[in-house]
Amino acid sequence: MQGPAPLSAKLVETPFSGAPLHTATQERLVRPARNVLGSLRLPGDKSISHRYGMLAAFAEGVSRFTNFSTGADCASTLACMQALGASVRKLDDGAVEVTGVAGRVTPTSQPLDCGNSGSTMRMISGLLAPQEGTFTLVGDESLSRRPMERIRKPLEAMGARLTLTEGHAPITIQGGALKAIDYTTPVPSAQVKTCVLLAGLQTEGTTIVREALRTRDHSELALRAFGAVLTRNLESISIAGPQKLHAIEAAVPGDISSAAFFLAAASIFPGSSLVLDALGLNPTRAALLDVLTTLGAHIAVLDLEEKNAELVGTVQITALPDGLRSAEISGGLAAQLIDELPVLAAIAPYTAGGIRIRDARELRVKESDRIALVAKNLRAMGAEVEEFEDGLDVPGGQKLHGATIDSGGDHRIAMAFAVAALRAEGETLIQGSESAAISFPEFFDLLDMVADR
Ligand code: S3P
Repeated sequence: MQGPAPLSAKLVETPFSGAPLHTATQERLVRPARNVLGSLRLPGDKSISHRYGMLAAFAEGVSRFTNFSTGADCASTLACMQALGASVRKLDDGAVEVTGVAGRVTPTSQPLDCGNSGSTMRMISGLLAPQEGTFTLVGDESLSRRPMERIRKPLEAMGARLTLTEGHAPITIQGGALKAIDYTTPVPSAQVKTCVLLAGLQTEGTTIVREALRTRDHSELALRAFGAVLTRNLESISIAGPQKLHAIEAAVPGDISSAAFFLAAASIFPGSSLVLDALGLNPTRAALLDVLTTLGAHIAVLDLEEKNAELVGTVQITALPDGLRSAEISGGLAAQLIDELPVLAAIAPYTAGGIRIRDARELRVKESDRIALVAKNLRAMGAEVEEFEDGLDVPGGQKLHGATIDSGGDHRIAMAFAVAALRAEGETLIQGSESAAISFPEFFDLLDMVADR
């Protein structure tokens, strides 16, 4: 009997890993809708899948995951871990099986291709810095522009040697035994926090990471699920190394950042009703539900359960006939909502009082300059918008018309404007629509399913 195909073969076949994504750009026409109705179960959370994939590949034993993210970013993490000696298979039932390297990766002279994924590059650097050998990490054009000093600093403080290219990838890591540090992250970043924790996991002594604002805590929860001991209080996490990890079996909760597009779409149509089940509702990720409630949508959370310390539940959203009010997103809230800000800004013209976003400078160094692209595309659709270094003011009470959208190859920009297009007058053409597959390959098909036209 033939066994399941190795994932590597699938990765080579997929048009979404590495270079093809940026050479074969596609366009997608989005027609207006009258309403948003239905119920969906979304693919696995990208942040959790990265961590489960990486930790399983590093652990001892065979881990198995259902509802693993279908996005190209998580495929990049799995491909890198395969190149480092882990084995990854996609089973016939869709589950992903990962056999780990039991704490010691196989050195490789081949560059590790992180594709478009900042999470892969920053987190894997922490995993590799304490390992013997020299590792090179590369990424696509967008990832090669993104700031990497933020991981070089703590890893060098621990004793690793990292060479960057003008502050960016390609990165060369000269790995070896490190020393524990007490590190305060200068900007809120779960990726940087994870990078330091993964290095601390393998390092003699207690490594402490302090953050002014608690960023998404999937790494802390996942490390514990894989058997690591760590302690945390309101502003710090401590991990005493070295520690070993064991394999786990888990169902990955649906991705709330992908759900954001559907929740936003439902919220702009009075009379809409959408149910999303098995959705990840980790409190460090769920601020969007509060903002949508403030805006005036009605949200009910049902069947809340805990799985591997992650909260999972069903979310039901109904938009009320009065429409949406206004919101101000700044300070810690902006950091917590960083991935959801593009879609909130894109629907802001449809609110009564507008949405004001500040303290979101990080948006400029994501897969694209998201502040500039949101402003450009809102203007293309006829909206008035004011751009700031760290945010945007989008007045409410505006009508949008269909336009050609420049996604900049950024998945969240492509999806955000597909949502705005649902209530615009006329059709909208999303250029670079294939970028949705970075986090959410099923996006356009699911949007067609729930958009009532
Ligand atoms: C992520 C953290 C955030 C987020 C990204 C995923 C993670 O980035 O924007 O999409 O999984 O840890 P930063 O760590 O740069 O804030």
